[in-house]
Amino acid sequence: MPDERSFGRLETFSLLAVPNDPIFEPLTIRHLTLKNRILRSNVCGRFDNYDGTGTQTRINWELKFARGGVGAIISSFVPVTIRGRIVPNYATISSDDRVPFWRELGRQVQAHDCRFILQLSHAGRQRDVPGIEFAKGLSSTATPEPLHGFECERMSLDQIREAVQAFADGARRAREARLDGVELHAANGYLFTQFLSSAINDREDEYGGSLENRARFLLDVVRAIRAEVGADFHLQVKISATEYNDALIKTEKRGNTIAESKQICQWLEAAGVDAIHVSTGSFFPHPRNPAGDFPLDELVKTYDTLISSGMLALRNYLLLRGRLTGAVFQQRWEHARGDRDKIQGLTLPDARAIKEVVRIPVFCTGGFQDAPAIRAALTSGACDAVSIARPLLANNNLVELFKNGLERPPVPCTYCNRCLVNAPENPLGCYDETRFASREEMVREIMTVFDPPPFR
Ligand SMILES: Cc1cc2nc3c(=O)[nH]c(=O)nc-3n(C[C@H](O)[C@H](O)[C@H](O)COP(=O)(O)O)c2cc1C
Ligand code: SF4
Repeated sequence: MPDERSFGRLETFSLLAVPNDPIFEPLTIRHLTLKNRILRSNVCGRFDNYDGTGTQTRINWELKFARGGVGAIISSFVPVTIRGRIVPNYATISSDDRVPFWRELGRQVQAHDCRFILQLSHAGRQRDVPGIEFAKGLSSTATPEPLHGFECERMSLDQIREAVQAFADGARRAREARLDGVELHAANGYLFTQFLSSAINDREDEYGGSLENRARFLLDVVRAIRAEVGADFHLQVKISATEYNDALIKTEKRGNTIAESKQICQWLEAAGVDAIHVSTGSFFPHPRNPAGDFPLDELVKTYDTLISSGMLALRNYLLLRGRLTGAVFQQRWEHARGDRDKIQGLTLPDARAIKEVVRIPVFCTGGFQDAPAIRAALTSGACDAVSIARPLLANNNLVELFKNGLERPPVPCTYCNRCLVNAPENPLGCYDETRFASREEMVREIMTVFDPPPFR
């Protein structure tokens, strides 16, 4: 069995199915049973309408993974308010009229014996493309986000109360849509991180300062959701266990440590949370999430989408286009990521640390792609399930491949992150041309998400 350090170097192929494979052992969480230990991690493209109503394209997207055999799909971020959007053209759950769309999407996914968990989210200040409705995002702070310069307004106590209610309403709507549960997006730099983080939260009221105060907003939301939907609706929280907030800008504070996150997870468990989903990084994207390459050539083609969003985005765009400055930025990013061989299971030590202090199941995200690595993560007791985004994007049928005895996909995800940098501008899909016979074949595959079309 491989240890955590050898995850990236596995080259195993075996055509014999593993008996009593832990990957295919069902997982029962308090109110939810998954048929196996692989969840599709949160990922989607700009497939919906500008106003946040959902489309057939989003349904087509989710069905690709439901058909591929994952035990559950966790949706990409679903804003609970329009102001809490990260970019337009993602379906929201911000009003009751959104319920029928989510019910239909859930019904079609569940028909494949796949559970559907909706990620309730609020961008706070981290809005890549804010849209036309609100100029500034809301946050725990009035300080703009330091990398792109997204401006924001410090939330008043009334605005915090409204946000708490918006999350509770979102959970109620997910339940009315007969979905299998909700996840709070308390990771990767969005509004919950902006409250939790010792590096970002500079409030002096009861929502800032001590860890207890910084965790108050998230815990208020958990309690409000429980009051709204009762004790038997699945509720999990995605958290950035270690923040590495100074990964790119050395003058920034480091942010929350694993010791602080362990305490937060214990409070979440006590407040009625059913599972913890472990991620990393106090902003998104972050060198360690999704950990991979910095595809500079591709990024300069799409970063222009952000130019009018943040005060520093034009500066960044010009730096990225400069041969020397672009190369320096690329080097700094990949240095902060660390060893390329260790991408698979990068967050596992944090998951293990959290698992040691809670009784509820722990899911781990970050680079998982090979069956032996996933088995080792499960059997070592570091986590109860893994969530996968990019390797499933590259091979929608990854779980079926494992079931058929393959230990590793024949044409694996290369962690090139071209999907990531295309996401703000182009349809989401795998953009690594080396994985396809030709560029035309790659584009054809990306465009399959539009089939079937909304009108025939
Ligand atoms: C294009 C893209 C979009 C993502 N969107 C979200 C999101 O909406 N919510 C979230 O919690 N994580 C999001 N993630 C992070 C993934 O869910 C996942 O945790 C991360 O990519 C690490 O897993 P992987 O190595 O399997 O890709 C996104 C990742 C990518 C590449
Ligand atoms: S573009 Fe394809 S190969 Fe590259 S990280 Fe994304 S899914 Fe993986």
